[in-house]
Amino acid sequence: MLTVGHALTQAREALAPHSETAALDAQTLLAAITRRPRAWVLAHPEARLTPCQHRRLNRACTRLAQGIPLPYVLGRWHFYGREFALTPAVLIPRPETETLVEHALQWLRGHPGRRRAADVGTGSGIIAVTLAAEIPDLRATATDRSAAALGLARLNAVRHGVADRIAWLQTDLLAAAPGSYDLIAANLPYIPTAALASLPVARHEPREALDGGPDGLALIRRLLAQARSRLAPGGLLLLEIAADQGEAARVAALAAFPKAEVRVLPDLAGRDRVLAIAIPGA
Ligand SMILES: C[S@@+](CC[C@H](N)C(=O)[O-])C[C@H]1O[C@@H](n2cnc3c(N)ncnc32)[C@H](O)[C@@H]1O
Repeated sequence: MLTVGHALTQAREALAPHSETAALDAQTLLAAITRRPRAWVLAHPEARLTPCQHRRLNRACTRLAQGIPLPYVLGRWHFYGREFALTPAVLIPRPETETLVEHALQWLRGHPGRRRAADVGTGSGIIAVTLAAEIPDLRATATDRSAAALGLARLNAVRHGVADRIAWLQTDLLAAAPGSYDLIAANLPYIPTAALASLPVARHEPREALDGGPDGLALIRRLLAQARSRLAPGGLLLLEIAADQGEAARVAALAAFPKAEVRVLPDLAGRDRVLAIAIPGA
């Protein structure tokens, strides 16, 4: 029977041609297969895998060698301290999106009377589910064009015990969303179409989750237009953007909301990451 130590070596070698973080990925894979923390995997090289675990490891290594990203192979990934089920129908959650969630939580905690939120383009549901899990009286509407994404997001909401506070809507951005919202948050596709061809992620993640049109801001501009009638007075709109879109996004925001306070907020690496639009109160 294969030991954990040998399995780590085998997985690391299989991953090395496909990943710059092969050793870490191998540990994550073994932790998932053994259902133990990564620290346990590192501390127990002598432990033995069961035949079933060995088979799962081989299968996972084959898929990884085909270039399938580790989160899809595992079928789950972590975001903001929680585990989310994942399929190739949705974007893999990115740590950058935690910046948007941090700002949303900070605002919600500072505005205890504002509890209607929308997550536009919810994907796996990470934004809506995290906000609802962190803010117990929050009510959210999560939209996506993709029925498969909405099904998975709902599953994640059930797993995290917040399904009764999130409404799911298959629609174009906020087109069919009823009423108005105190907070609208969105991580919409923002990669320029022409850049997609040369991006490795585009080979495995859904195009509808990545393609932001000619300059990457097409969906963001459309949401800005829709949000004018959906954002409550005194509300906040938070949109994730690419590091090089700060100025163009700010201009688009001011065109749609000339009286708003518009800011571009950085991520932990200091790069432009979130467009924040605060609407004056009633
Ligand atoms: C970049 S992914 C983000 C997913 C998730 N919010 C996250 O942060 O991981 C964008 C999502 O927007 C959805 N989407 C794309 N165009 C849309 C549209 N016009 N209306 C609603 N959702 C859309 C995609 O299906 C995808 O799930």
